[in-house]
Amino acid sequence: MDLQLTGKKAIVTGSSRGIGRAIARQLALEGCDVAICARTAGPLQQAAAELATESGRKVVPIVCDTLNADSIKHFVATAAQELGGINIVINNAARVGGTPGTIETVSDADVLRDFEEKVVGYLRTVQAAIPYLKQAGWGRVINISGGAGRAPGTGVSGGIRNIGTVNLTKSMANTLGPYGINVNAIYPGQTITEATFERYAEQAQREGTTVEALHQAADARTVLKHVVTAADIGCFVAMLCSPLSIGVHGEAIGIDGGNRADMHY
Ligand SMILES: NC(=O)c1ccc[n+]([C@@H]2O[C@H](COP(=O)([O-])OP(=O)(O)OC[C@H]3O[C@@H](n4cnc5c(N)ncnc54)[C@H](OP(=O)(O)O)[C@@H]3O)[C@@H](O)[C@H]2O)c1
Repeated sequence: MDLQLTGKKAIVTGSSRGIGRAIARQLALEGCDVAICARTAGPLQQAAAELATESGRKVVPIVCDTLNADSIKHFVATAAQELGGINIVINNAARVGGTPGTIETVSDADVLRDFEEKVVGYLRTVQAAIPYLKQAGWGRVINISGGAGRAPGTGVSGGIRNIGTVNLTKSMANTLGPYGINVNAIYPGQTITEATFERYAEQAQREGTTVEALHQAADARTVLKHVVTAADIGCFVAMLCSPLSIGVHGEAIGIDGGNRADMHY
């Protein structure tokens, strides 16, 4: 099936590595021109060069910190100028899990910072992109939430900001849908990224085993015998971005390999 994404213009926040990079890669492989961003210039430029070479599409690196409103405005405006518009917004930038801590240990300053980073960062990015999305008359917004939104355990920050992005998704969907802009959220569960392999490498050295053995053991503990990877999420998000996915709007969809005990009806 042709996802009909050739020539679309996408921006992906937090995309020098991890889930954001995998989404940017898949969108570029499907024919999108893409603007990527991160706080650190070196890895960002390297990622852009690699993705452009692999996909043959335009991949523009723009340094941005989504904790900073002006930085977001600069990213979105520069991306629109470089790409000739914006059709697709992927909100992904955030530190995984936010600041650890229970209600007894976490500070309100950390919670506020984490909320600004993820929920307000996503809001500001879409606010900056709305004029371009409306001008294009067609768009997609995907907000990357996280499993702690559904199952916080004893943590505070990770859960409330992830559920905040989901509620924001519905509000965005209700407002932007009439302009031909579909908005959805996804809940990744535990996801294999470059950071996972860095952790495996340290663990393998400590325990006298191999990265491959640790990876296989992690797969074996899952329902599907496969821990979800960033590439898996990239593929699913590309499908959601397709014009063919018009019927999915204002939803929050889990991508966790079915490992959680609960089911949401
Ligand atoms: N990995 C998982 O298991 C998992 C599970 C559930 C949800 N998630 C969610 O998925 C998203 C991505 O996670 P990931 O595991 O792919 O993270 P990651 O591997 O740490 O990558 C994060 C990316 O975002 C950039 N970034 C971080 N903070 C930023 C900021 N304030 N402004 C701009 N760029 C920023 C990083 O580059 P710089 O450091 O150079 O800025 C990097 O490119 C997050 O929203 C996370 O909560 C992940």
